Amino acid sequence: MDTFPAIRARGITKCFGDVVALDGIDLDVAHGQIHGLVGPNGAGKTTLLGLLLGLAVADSGRLEVLGTPVERALTTPDGVAGFVDGPGLYPSLTARQNLTALTALRGLDTGLSGVDDVLDQVGLTEVADDRARGFSLGMRQRLGLAAALLTRPRLLVLDEPSNGLDPAGKKHVHGVLTRLAAEGTSVVLSSHRMDDLEALCSEVTIIATGRVVFSGPLGKLATDHRELDYRLLTSDPQAARRVAAETAGVRIVDDAAVRQDSDLLVIRALVPALDELVVRLVGAGIALRELAPVVSPLEAAFLALTEQKETGS
Ligand SMILES: Nc1ncnc2c1ncn2[C@@H]1O[C@H](COP(=O)(O)OP(=O)(O)OP(=O)(O)O)[C@@H](O)[C@H]1O
Ligand SMILES: [Mg+2]
Repeated sequence: MDTFPAIRARGITKCFGDVVALDGIDLDVAHGQIHGLVGPNGAGKTTLLGLLLGLAVADSGRLEVLGTPVERALTTPDGVAGFVDGPGLYPSLTARQNLTALTALRGLDTGLSGVDDVLDQVGLTEVADDRARGFSLGMRQRLGLAAALLTRPRLLVLDEPSNGLDPAGKKHVHGVLTRLAAEGTSVVLSSHRMDDLEALCSEVTIIATGRVVFSGPLGKLATDHRELDYRLLTSDPQAARRVAAETAGVRIVDDAAVRQDSDLLVIRALVPALDELVVRLVGAGIALRELAPVVSPLEAAFLALTEQKETGS
């Protein structure tokens, strides 16, 4: 096991003309960690991932990838694989030919069995002999991941790998990433899908307008003392409404998505007040059928942190 972190970035800045894409970014990714990058459109995620892949150089700051400082040369650091803005593929070649060409180009010693193995891992065996030209977005994403796997990377960098994936594709991709991480490979991925980030990542970094607004374990976000909206469904909605109105710290909120005559109640509360409400409901003989956040804690924190940033406060 390597003793250095997979990524250590300090004060990374990158401008495109007048646009400050990255404005003093710090990032730490440990070995075997799946780290999620999240942020609004234009936040700087692709730019940052591009620096990790050696597709561009930072204007200033220090970047170490797999224990080695990233030099100013535009080459992918050793042990790193992945893609930004969709994988580069040869459209006139089949999936298998794309991967075989890559093995030859890179001088990899994986052979045909290696190609078949990665196709199987991403669930593309059945379309292995179809031309990439006809591939859907999700299939291209999976072929891109297969290409990255061929190089047996120690750090995998993926820009929105869940884009366009159907449920089966998602299952394959999640399975591959989870297994790689368990074997010690580090993964950095960007996503707009909070459910993917929650399913996959142990830590996330939230970026807004080129700056880090949060970085750390997901649990830290969830335990943040922030009021959330919850959907509440009970056996007696009228009685539940009365009990909720009488419980300190619980507010009944109007939710445009909930019809007035609906049995569903939307309440806003901190966790201790929510606990108290549940105890009272059950004490009053009202059965609890559903109690769930309207948006996940990650999504709520994301919105709160990034909106705050965009209004300049
Ligand atoms: N090659 C480029 N030339 C000029 N401006 C660029 C270039 N690449 C990125 N930018 C700008 O840098 C900023 C960050 O862009 P980036 O693509 O990194 O955002 P992102 O977080 O990946 O967004 P999205 O969620 O839409 O993919 C944006 O303002 C973008 O317009
Ligand atoms: Mg992007």
